[in-house]
Amino acid sequence: MPVKPDNIESALQEARSFPPPEGFVAHTRLDSAALEALRREASADHLGFWARMAWEQLQWQRPFTVVLDEADAPNYRWFTDGQLNVSHNCLDVHLAQRGDKVAILFEGEPGDVRRITYRELHAEVCRFANALVALGVTAGDRVVIYLPMVPEAVVAMHACARIGAVHSVVFGGFAHHSLRERIEDAGAKVVITADGGHRGGSVVELKAAVDKAIDGDACPSVQRVVVLRRSGRAVPMVPERDLWWHELTAAHSAECAPVWVDAEHPLFLLYTSGSTGKPKGIQHASAGYLLGAKLTSQWVFDLRDDDVFWCTADVGWVTGHSYVAYGPLSAGATIVMYEGAPTIPDAGRFWKICQTHGVTIFYTAPTALRALMKLGDEIPARYDLSKIRLLGSVGEPINPEAWMWYHRVIGQQRCPIVDTWWQTETGAIMIAPLPGAVATKPGSCTLPLPGIDAAIVNDNGDEVTAPDAGGYLVIRKPWPSMLRTIWRNNDRYLAAYWEKFQNRFYVAGDSAHRDRDGYYWIMGRIDDVLKVSGHRLGTMEIESALVAHPRVAEAAVVGRQHDIKGESVFAYVVCKGARPTGDTSALVQELRDWVAEQLGPIARPDDIRFTDNLPKTRSGKIMRRLLRAVARGEPITQDVSTLENPAIVEQLRGPDTQS
Ligand code: WT7
Repeated sequence: MPVKPDNIESALQEARSFPPPEGFVAHTRLDSAALEALRREASADHLGFWARMAWEQLQWQRPFTVVLDEADAPNYRWFTDGQLNVSHNCLDVHLAQRGDKVAILFEGEPGDVRRITYRELHAEVCRFANALVALGVTAGDRVVIYLPMVPEAVVAMHACARIGAVHSVVFGGFAHHSLRERIEDAGAKVVITADGGHRGGSVVELKAAVDKAIDGDACPSVQRVVVLRRSGRAVPMVPERDLWWHELTAAHSAECAPVWVDAEHPLFLLYTSGSTGKPKGIQHASAGYLLGAKLTSQWVFDLRDDDVFWCTADVGWVTGHSYVAYGPLSAGATIVMYEGAPTIPDAGRFWKICQTHGVTIFYTAPTALRALMKLGDEIPARYDLSKIRLLGSVGEPINPEAWMWYHRVIGQQRCPIVDTWWQTETGAIMIAPLPGAVATKPGSCTLPLPGIDAAIVNDNGDEVTAPDAGGYLVIRKPWPSMLRTIWRNNDRYLAAYWEKFQNRFYVAGDSAHRDRDGYYWIMGRIDDVLKVSGHRLGTMEIESALVAHPRVAEAAVVGRQHDIKGESVFAYVVCKGARPTGDTSALVQELRDWVAEQLGPIARPDDIRFTDNLPKTRSGKIMRRLLRAVARGEPITQDVSTLENPAIVEQLRGPDTQS
């Protein structure tokens, strides 16, 4: 049973408030008067507002006349009779004025640097798009991209967009099992990978994982594997199936006419975890998504032509889609891409990159900040961070302590911080301050953006208006960058996001409260999804991986607070035969490695506890709330009398807590 958000008391009382710095306001794109005007316009005429935005921000090959099609609600469709191309809107539109402007400033983990102009990026995208066409990829085909954080990842995404193919980027930190599941669900025709990427001082063997994922009968849809040379390591190439990127593209022209697609044509799938079942293929549409990514890049990051924008997210996550590959490029910005880990060769790497490339806007995750904060103020103090003018945070609630450190040490008390709440499903930032218009408070993502109708409701769907009262965070009106469906599973789309309040609101799955000023404070997930280092992990996936081990009969996974990761994975495991006792460290290690091998290192459990049974209700449901309380060492408040096996509670507490 998920925690009812109505019952969550907000313990956090934060009184500090930081108005936008004067120096910032003087040059901002949107001051408070401009923001007010946008809000008024959007609340007076929701569709008129979005139509004007779509009209002004995007170049349409065929103009739309329909703004929103609600016939099949909550399967909403935006700008349905319009046609455009996303890659054209991010690249071609800049060639005349910004052709020689740097689009991507790339730094590899070993220290190699590349500067790619808009003209060069356009040429590379066209070449690769032509190559994909030559491989038989046509509009609507799915292409899986499994690459390190190198410019070719962005090239591959835009090449797909250019020809109307649907990309599905799989994070390079996922292992073969997760990769296989995503390739199979998407039915991908082509997989794009590399001979390896540099991460944490070693080489991640991406091609080997692809080979393992599509071994034997697995992934029958895959016809070709394109391999980028990055690490220079020797990799076995399967004749007929595998092709080198450089050989493939050499023969192709640097011109490729964009394929005009309908506004609703799917741009990408991105798999994300839910609490139950397989990962969900979140499907985004072309025009609405791009509109959200572009507008929010301009609004929330206050982008100007001379900015150097660094979002540290990997393209394997939605943040890397919206604020690396699409949003800032559509706005004509210069972006920084870094391939590797923040601690290579030492913990100053992020700040050194900011100094070297003159980063002006820096956007990262609280987990990274907490890790860097722990190492002290002296490390960032060694670098010149004076060019930075704006800081951002995303992925999980940022604790006020980390916020203040970010403000003081990285922002040198000069830079506004934008704490941005959104999700893979929302496509773009939903709740965040506009840095030149909204005062910030440490730990709050502040106010919904214009055109976003957020609210907090109780279990009956009534709006909760009392200050600081918690409830479900919902969005009441459709917005253009919203997900369209779950790939090949519209029923799951309806059940996961709409059923709870009879299709009246989009249910985000987070609980939140609002303070006296109307500011939103996100309290966390209502479902069983974990946030480990800002990455969404489904309990179900980890449980399935554990149960796939020959020694394991049953498993239940919960999250436990962790200083740096936010949450860590805590697994209760029932073994086949007798419960392991005595020194179990070898088996624990084996199971931890097993999960990492199957799913990727981010899913590796920190704790494993063996038990004879799992606590279940008489109807057979695992009592996760109880397991969570035990894992966190909290008192058990729930009624254990409904347990099938109440005696199990003592054993769950583990040997270390048993007296
Ligand atoms: C979940 C979505 C947003 C892109 C990256 C993560 C949590 C996200 C914040 C924030 C508090 C946040 C929510 C949300 N979350 N941003 N600023 N403050 N919580 O996307 O993997 O789809 O995860 O991340 O719980 O539902 P995602």
